[in-house]
Order: sequence, then structure tokens, then C-alpha cells
Amino acid sequence: MSDLKSKFLEVYSVLKSELLNDPAFEFTDDSRQRVERMLDYNVPGGKLNRGLSVVDSYKLLKQGKELTAEETFLACSLGWCIEWLQAYFLVLDDIMDKSHTRRGQPCWFRLPKVGMIAVNDGILLRNHISRILKNHFKGTPYYVDLVDLFNEVEFQTAHGQMIDLITTLVGEKDLSKYSLSLHRRIVQYKTAYYSFYLPVACALLMSGENLDNHVDVKNVLVEMGTYFQVQDDYLDCFGDPEVIGKVNMRMPKLQYCQCKYPNL
Ligand code: IPE
Ligand code: MN
Repeated sequence: MSDLKSKFLEVYSVLKSELLNDPAFEFTDDSRQRVERMLDYNVPGGKLNRGLSVVDSYKLLKQGKELTAEETFLACSLGWCIEWLQAYFLVLDDIMDKSHTRRGQPCWFRLPKVGMIAVNDGILLRNHISRILKNHFKGTPYYVDLVDLFNEVEFQTAHGQMIDLITTLVGEKDLSKYSLSLHRRIVQYKTAYYSFYLPVACALLMSGENLDNHVDVKNVLVEMGTYFQVQDDYLDCFGDPEVIGKVNMRMPKLQYCQCKYPNL
């Protein structure tokens, strides 16, 4: 494991234990263990690309200068906020898509003791982001921008999910409205902002930049994110579940994939 990744995972343990001892709630041993299990199951198990890219981007913005321990911790914390955001979307997305597996294990809501409690777990995951930002960034000059950024990206992602869900309704056979431009809008909003723009935007804010001055950066990252999601859709339909770690049961995906890529 790379040094960066092991440092990153260390920060996860710190953030987790802060959340499990948050004075805003009186945890019992049981409730603490339940949240810990939920976090360990849903937050750190992915590739961590989004989270790690905050740290990589921040390093590049510092032009190779060594990060202080404090800067490393803050960049890793923002990286984890993105991983938390992703866990929140995925826990709820798997329910909506009736998926069976994710990251090579059963979807969280499929566990017998979880079920629809997973909806509240999604809400907890979202709230954890606000707690992490408050605990570690409240004193920084970019705190308000950071909170705004996470709110805005969540807003965009949820709307992307909405237009995806309403155009791929189960049982709906009519895909005539499913144009290339609609597909682009879906993937731009549901994936590109949070997966590609958000990590770099976090690093820019940490570097004291004003995001309004970097619209060009946003545009390039959104293009990259769009490409990424097209690949994800393709793999959902034609990838080996053993390799991609998930079985997607949203049947219309196959239909619309064939419709989007009729020559494959
Ligand atoms: C995942 O979308 C949810 C978000 C990105 C918000 P998909 O349904 O297309 O992705 P997978 O196939 O479940 O990972
Ligand atoms: Mn899904």
C-alpha cells in the first residue's frame, strides 16, 4: 500500500472516532457499535480515487512543496468527506436500483438486520459530512465556501439521479426520449460534479482560490467525469460482475445501454 493511502486510512479512523463520540448525541455502546459497523461497511471499501485525488490535487497546487502534517490531515479529511458523500449516494442508490451487490459484497440494505433502516443510514452519512466540516474547517477562511460547495454538488447529483430514474423507469419500454443530449445531462449531473469536479474544487479552496475564477477547470473535469460514467454504464451491462464487484438489477439499464450504444 502506498504511503498516501495508509495515511489516508489513518485519517479515516480519526474521523470515525470523532463521529462516534460526537457530544451532540449521547451514544450508548450499542448505538456506537451500530454506526461503526455501518461506516466500516459503506465508507472505506471502494477504490478511494475521489478522496485520494483531493490530496494529489492539493500537492500539485503547492507545486511539489512538502505538505505540513496539518495540511495533509485537512486534505485527507476533505477527501473523506467526498467518500462519505459517495457512500450516502450509493446506499440510497442501491435501494432505488434494487441492486444486489456493491464492491463485491451484498448491498447494505440487503443485510437481514438492515433493510430499510438503510434509508436513515444514508441520512446519517450525509450528516457526518457536515460534522466533519464543522469540526475541522470552521475556523478557516474557506469554511462557508466549502459548505456551499458540498451543498451545491449534492443538489446537482440528486437532480442527476432524478432525471436518470425518471427516464429509466422499470417496465417503461419507450426510450424514444432517451437522446444523446439527455444522456449527457444525466451523467454530467449524477456523476461528473461529485466525482471529478468536487475533489479538485476542495483542493482549490484549501489553496485559497476563489472557485468563480476557475470555470475552465470545472468544464474540463466535467468532461472527464462524463467519459467515466459512460464507461461505468457500459461495464454495468457488459462487464464481468466478478471483476466490477456489482450485479446491477436495474433491467432498463441494459435496454438503454443498447439504445445509447446501438452499434456495440
Ligand atoms: C450511482 O449511479 C449513483 C450516483 C452516482 C449518485 P449508478 O446507479 O449509475 O451507478 P452504480 O452502477 O449503481 O454504481
Ligand atoms: Mn445504481
